[in-house]
Amino acid sequence: MNRENWGSRFGFIMAAAGSAIGLGNVWRFPYVAGENGGGAFLLIYLVIVAVFGFSLAMTEIALGRATQRNPVGAFRALGGRRWMPAGFLGVAAGFVILSFYIVVAGWTLAYVGFMARGMLGSTDPAVLGARFESFIADPLVPLYYAGCFMALVVLVVSGGIGRGIERANRWLMPALFGLLLVLVVRAVTLPGAAEGLRFLLMPDFSRVTGATFGAALAQAFFSLSLGMGCLLTYGSYLSRREPIPSTTATFVGLDLLASVLAGMIVLPVVFSFGFDPGSGPGLTFVTLPAIFASMPGGAVFGGMFFLLLAIAALTSAMSILEPAVAYFVDEHGLSRRLTVAGCALVCFMLAIPSSLSFGLACGLQVGGRSFFDLMDFTATNLMLPLGALLTSLFVGWRWCDGARQEIFAATGVAPIWIGTWKLVLRFIAPAGLSWIFLASSGLI
Ligand code: PHE
Repeated sequence: MNRENWGSRFGFIMAAAGSAIGLGNVWRFPYVAGENGGGAFLLIYLVIVAVFGFSLAMTEIALGRATQRNPVGAFRALGGRRWMPAGFLGVAAGFVILSFYIVVAGWTLAYVGFMARGMLGSTDPAVLGARFESFIADPLVPLYYAGCFMALVVLVVSGGIGRGIERANRWLMPALFGLLLVLVVRAVTLPGAAEGLRFLLMPDFSRVTGATFGAALAQAFFSLSLGMGCLLTYGSYLSRREPIPSTTATFVGLDLLASVLAGMIVLPVVFSFGFDPGSGPGLTFVTLPAIFASMPGGAVFGGMFFLLLAIAALTSAMSILEPAVAYFVDEHGLSRRLTVAGCALVCFMLAIPSSLSFGLACGLQVGGRSFFDLMDFTATNLMLPLGALLTSLFVGWRWCDGARQEIFAATGVAPIWIGTWKLVLRFIAPAGLSWIFLASSGLI
């Protein structure tokens, strides 16, 4: 049977951008940039995305398209059984990531409702902080929202590629960019917004250290959904007529744009009201609602902001589930609907301890980390870099000519770019990724 294809190039680009643009852009990027020297971080991040992220994204797509398989099948087809664990790592990472991703996504869904019902009408961060803490510590309510979110993902992914994932992204991604633009206009016209923009855009090289490069690299591959076979799986549904370099460049560009726009919303808003941009992850659920409450029309803009986050999370979550689903469907011949339901159930079960770790089960710690932090750390700092490392080594050293054909044949790209791509895969990416992996696991 022929594999289902994306209906159009636009559909693929929207789906890939939907995967890439997620909580990583709106919730994580602004404060990571803030903590790492603003514009200087942005500059380093740009170079890393353009060189490393772009090369690796093209490579993953090529692996999928050449083999028409899921991550496990793709590695087996090209590298034999010995390379299958690289694919399994991706499938497993999907479960781990989704288990904590849907918890935070559930919070965003809940906050859309809270905003709409005017339940966050305080301008005092202490009050909002307490409200947030008591909300996430509740044993049932956050899980209810995580369950609703998971159900939405199941609804879309069960529909398959064209009628499920592609159709949802074709609507949701333009809506997301629309919301981003409205919010940017609101944010940059606030009094004192210039200070926030300066913070995001003006390079302060005195804050750049080795760790800045590590942070930029980690942010780049999380944001581009690299290292777990998402793009590989999406690439397996891409028609051979589509040129990989320009299609990849478009979605990578959209991901960058979304991060910068999110920074242009969050930082001016924070500065305009005199808050601290380094207040980390709490920025989104505590500081921003306080600001929205003190802004004219804040309930509307606040509602829009959380809706934006929920949409971004939804389109990413679909792509995190798809590699596992494709694996069971391709390799074990299971029905898509059944597989989606089964995988979702497993993710939800894993989400329970994650969600409870903010309340009932906060005493349950592994190596000083709560269950939620443990899942986040294992996936983001260990599994994804390892997955990306294996992918770059495999393609760089074992399947280089095949990948070169798949990506560059008939595109007329100058040899120097092909040389750069090869250099990145063979040396630069393995060096950077090993460094992140070893540093995270405490080995160096
Ligand atoms: N890129 C997504 C984000 O920025 C997260 C993600 C990671 C999606 C890995 C798929 C795979 O939120």
